[in-house]
Formats: sequence, structure tokens, C-alpha cells
Amino acid sequence: MTLLTVWDENDASAPELQTRDAQVITDVLSTLGARFSRWELKELSAEPTQEEVLSAYRDEIDAVNAAQGYTLVDVVSIVDDNSPEYLEQAATARQKFLSEHRHDDDEDRFFARGSGVFYLRAGGKVNAVFCEAGDLISVPANTTHWFDMGTRPEYVSVRFFHDDDGWIGNFTGSEIAKDFATYDELASVSA
Ligand SMILES: [Fe+2]
Repeated sequence: MTLLTVWDENDASAPELQTRDAQVITDVLSTLGARFSRWELKELSAEPTQEEVLSAYRDEIDAVNAAQGYTLVDVVSIVDDNSPEYLEQAATARQKFLSEHRHDDDEDRFFARGSGVFYLRAGGKVNAVFCEAGDLISVPANTTHWFDMGTRPEYVSVRFFHDDDGWIGNFTGSEIAKDFATYDELASVSA
């Protein structure tokens, strides 16, 4: 179940708030300009193609595109088959956005399967949203954030784009991400 953890950005030791209440999560994120909602999960095959996922959530995706003006969507997925290739792919993918960064475009993500944690740093707080299957979250453009998919990621997720370049990470150089609870640590709370 989705879990929001909020810390003071200077104190990663004890959260100021930790909640699974979807309305509270929605309200806290809205103060940051971030949208959060839940979609009813659809049946998908064991290793769904991009077309299958986009087709299953066509109506929901069309609504987001219409509201936010997105022109491109794609599906990214990773399956844990315990192979060396998986472990290498997982480590590379995890590292990519594990450090604090910003994008010129909004970062909308729908989790059709699996989970991941978005950490939004704003107003002196770090807001960690442990997203689960069915969650749609948006990180507003230029919001300082990082993302942790964990050491054994498994997910099927939909990404939304306004153009080809909006998703390039502009890294801040801050090491703050290392101070806060990781995906793996939050997963044990979230379970
Ligand atoms: Fe990002």
C-alpha cells in the first residue's frame, strides 16, 4: 500500500509524518504541485507488451494526455528472473536516477505493476512516496527529486512525455539522497 514519509531535510533520523492515507498523501503532494491518484488495476499477462499495457489503460492514459498535454507515452518494465543480465540491468537502472536531480518536464509515472519511491525535496522537507501498483504520480518540472526502484526491481510502468528531451536529468551534485531511507528500507515499513 502506498506510503508517504516526510522528514525535515536536515534530519533523516525520524520522520515527521508517515501515512498510508491516500487523501493525506494527495493533499501533501498537492502542496508541492504534484498530482497523485489511483487507477483500478487491469489484468495483464505475465510479461505484457507495451501495446498490451497501453491498450489496457487506454481511457486513463487518454485522460492524462488530454489534461496535461502529453504527446508521447511509453512503457518500461523489468522482470526479476534472477539472471546475471537482470542483476546488471537492475543495478544500472537503479543508479540512473538515484541521485538528486531535476527535469525540464513533468515526470508522470503510472505503476501498472511493481513499485518505486519518489523523493521530492521542497520547502525544507523530503517527501518520500512509496508508490505501488495502481498509483499515478507526477513530479512537477524543476522539482528537486530522486527515485529509488530498489535492489531487486520488478515493475511495469507507463511514462508520459511532452517531447523527447524533457526527461534528461539535471543533477544537482547533492549527496542528500544517501542520507534517507532507501526503497529496500521503506519496503519493510510498507509491507
Ligand atoms: Fe526524475
